[in-house]
Amino acid sequence: MYKTLIYEKKDTIGVLTINRPEKLNALSNELIDELAQFLDEMENDEELRILVITGAGEKAFVAGADIQELVDRDALLGRKVSRTRQEIFSRIENLPIPVIAAVNGYALGGGLELALACSIRICSDRAQFGAPEVKLGIIPGDGGTQRLPRLVGLGRAMEIVLTGDFIDAQEAYRIGLVNQVISHDELMEKAMALAQKIAKRPPLAVRYAKEAVNRSQEGDAISGYALESYLHALTCTTEDKKEGVKAFLEKRKGTFKGK
Ligand code: COA
Repeated sequence: MYKTLIYEKKDTIGVLTINRPEKLNALSNELIDELAQFLDEMENDEELRILVITGAGEKAFVAGADIQELVDRDALLGRKVSRTRQEIFSRIENLPIPVIAAVNGYALGGGLELALACSIRICSDRAQFGAPEVKLGIIPGDGGTQRLPRLVGLGRAMEIVLTGDFIDAQEAYRIGLVNQVISHDELMEKAMALAQKIAKRPPLAVRYAKEAVNRSQEGDAISGYALESYLHALTCTTEDKKEGVKAFLEKRKGTFKGK
């Protein structure tokens, strides 16, 4: 049982709701501890095919770090908190299953950084995104300065990080920060439909495709190509590959086991 998270499983899809709506789901230390505990637990769930992350309430996905807790954050603590949160978000980024951020409102600071660690972002037409840290006299610490430019380009990332201004859902779509903008009331329905589609794909192919695509964002292209071909080779050994190819040739839908 968590205090600041709600976790539900619908067949092979996990839905994690960040749950501090009275504080716009701000990332308190307690919430981050629970997130780490959640990852420990869900990483052992062999049945899970995909995770959807959203925020509780009508207003926010996550409105950033808990600003009350910033009061006592000195340099030593700042470094520790930043490293801890970077690690947790990297764990999310590198989970063996894809993660969809269903951004239902404000995604600010650490909330934007959490969404950036997800594999795919879709958002409500009410969503707003921003990195307001600079207005508080600090800079992002949960991976945002590295992930944001990779996704939207250096110039756009600079403007978002240096001004601290929010951008709306349409602008987020225009710059490639989100894949889809959906009317607020239909967000979860559409997120679940996307999750279901991916959950039906051969699990090992999805897993290694995610790993190979993630690798493109770090290191050099030559080792990226090498990893891709090894992972491709690995998928050629699976029962799912046999079934996928056979099903296509027999003009029927494949059934996949993740083996
Ligand atoms: N940390 C702690 N509390 C937060 C918070 C945060 N990041 N963001 C919002 N809250 C709290 C507010 O203090 C308020 O609490 P209260 O009712 O006890 O006073 C409650 O959540 C509702 O927020 P409120 O500011 O009243 O809502 P709003 O609709 O007027 O404004 C925002 C929404 C998102 C524009 C505004 O809350 C905001 O700017 N939040 C901070 C965003 C930020 O700088 N994040 C990065 C931190 S590094």
